[in-house]
Amino acid sequence: MNGFEQEYYRYTSLDLHKLGGIDKQYSSPCYVYSKNTISESYKKLKNSLPDKFRIFYAQKSNPNPEILQHIRKLGAGCDTASFGEMKSALRAGFTPENIMLTGPSKSEEEIRFAVENNLLSVNVESVQELELTDKISFESGKVQGILVRVNPPYDSSETTRIIGGTGVSKFGIDIEQIYEFFSYLKSKKNVSLKGIHIFNSSQILDENRIFSNTKNVIDTAIELSQKYSFSIKKIDLGGGFGIPYSSEETQLDIESLGNKLNSLTESKEYKSFLEDVTLIYEPGRYLSGRAGIYLVKVLYTKTSRGQKILLTDGGIHHMLRPALIGQSHPAINLTALFEGRNNAENYMVAGPLCTSLDTFGENIGLAESKPGDIIAFMNAGAYGYTESMPMFLSHPAAKEIFID
Ligand SMILES: Cc1ncc(COP(=O)(O)O)c(C=O)c1O
Repeated sequence: MNGFEQEYYRYTSLDLHKLGGIDKQYSSPCYVYSKNTISESYKKLKNSLPDKFRIFYAQKSNPNPEILQHIRKLGAGCDTASFGEMKSALRAGFTPENIMLTGPSKSEEEIRFAVENNLLSVNVESVQELELTDKISFESGKVQGILVRVNPPYDSSETTRIIGGTGVSKFGIDIEQIYEFFSYLKSKKNVSLKGIHIFNSSQILDENRIFSNTKNVIDTAIELSQKYSFSIKKIDLGGGFGIPYSSEETQLDIESLGNKLNSLTESKEYKSFLEDVTLIYEPGRYLSGRAGIYLVKVLYTKTSRGQKILLTDGGIHHMLRPALIGQSHPAINLTALFEGRNNAENYMVAGPLCTSLDTFGENIGLAESKPGDIIAFMNAGAYGYTESMPMFLSHPAAKEIFID
C-alpha cells in the first residue's frame, strides 16, 4: 500500500478497487455508500456494549432508504426528528416500538402521527410539549410513552459546536426547572413517563468522555427517579460517537468503552437499579459516516494570487458540512492514486456555486491534480447530503450509489 492508499483506508473500509472505473459508470458528482462498512461499524459497537444497551440509528445523519433498511436488518431501532423521518422509518420496515420521536420544536401534526402510530416514545422537551402530547393522546384514546429530555449541568465538551454542549440550550428542559415538569406530570393521565433522555455533545473521540457522560446521565436518572418517585425503564444517552476527520484525530476506542461500561453496569452500585432498565445510544455519525464518500470531478485548475485552486463539478449544494462546521473532510485524488501519480500539493478545492462559501477547504493536500481527475471526500456518509443546500443554483441532485 502506498501513502495515499493508507490514507484512504484510515477513513473507510469501502474497497478502493471497487471504485476503479466508477467515473466511467456513473457521472460525478455522486455519493458512494458501502453497506459492508455500515455493518462493520454497527457490529463493532453492538458487540462491545453490554447487552442492556440498544442502538437506535439517528436517521438525521443519513436518511437514505437503503441505509435505513440495512440498519434495521442489523437489529437497530430508529431515532426520528420529523414527520418525514417517522414516515421513512416506517417505510423502511422499523416497527413502531422501535421508533422514537425527538426534537426541540415538534408540531402538533408530528406528535399526533407519533401517537396514532404507537411509537415507542415521544421525547418531550418542554412543559408545553408535555401538555400537548397529553392532550393529543387523550383525543386519540391512548396513553403515550414519553421520555423527558433534560438539559444537564455537566458538559461533555463538544469541540465543534454541533449540539451545543452545556449552557443555554434549545434542547430539553434545564435540570434546574425539572420540578416544574414533574408537578405538571402529576395531573396528566394520557402520558406515561418511561425515563429520561440527555444528549448534548456530538463528534466525541475520547471514550473516557463518553463513559463519564454515560455515568453522569445514569446518576441523573437515579437522582430524578428517587426525588420524584417514578421508575425508570429507559435511559436515552443520545449519540455523539465521533470519527476522525483528519490525521491528527484518533479512532474512538470502542472496545475500551465497552469494557468500562461493562464494569459499571455490573457494579454493585448500579446493577440493581439497572436491572429492568434499557440503555439506549442513538449514534448517527458513527454508523453512517465512514460508509460514504462524495466524488467530484476537477473541471478546471487555476492559480489566484499564489494559491492553487481546483474547481470541481460538486459543491456545498451536495456537501455543505465543511463550510458549515469549518472542518475539511479528508480528500484523496482517486485518479492520481490509480495512475500512480504521487507528487503532493496543497489546493483550495472549490465548487461551481456563486458564493465563496462553496469551498471544501483552502489547504487540502492532494496528489498533483489536473482536469478530469476524480477527488473523493471521505467520511461523507453522515451529515453529508442530508445537511446540505440542494436547491441553491438548481444543480441536479447528487446520485447516491451503493457498491456493496
Ligand atoms: C437527539 C439526537 N440523537 C442522536 C443524534 C446523533 O448524533 P451523532 O451523529 O453525533 O451520533 C443527534 C444529532 O444531532 C440528535 O440530535
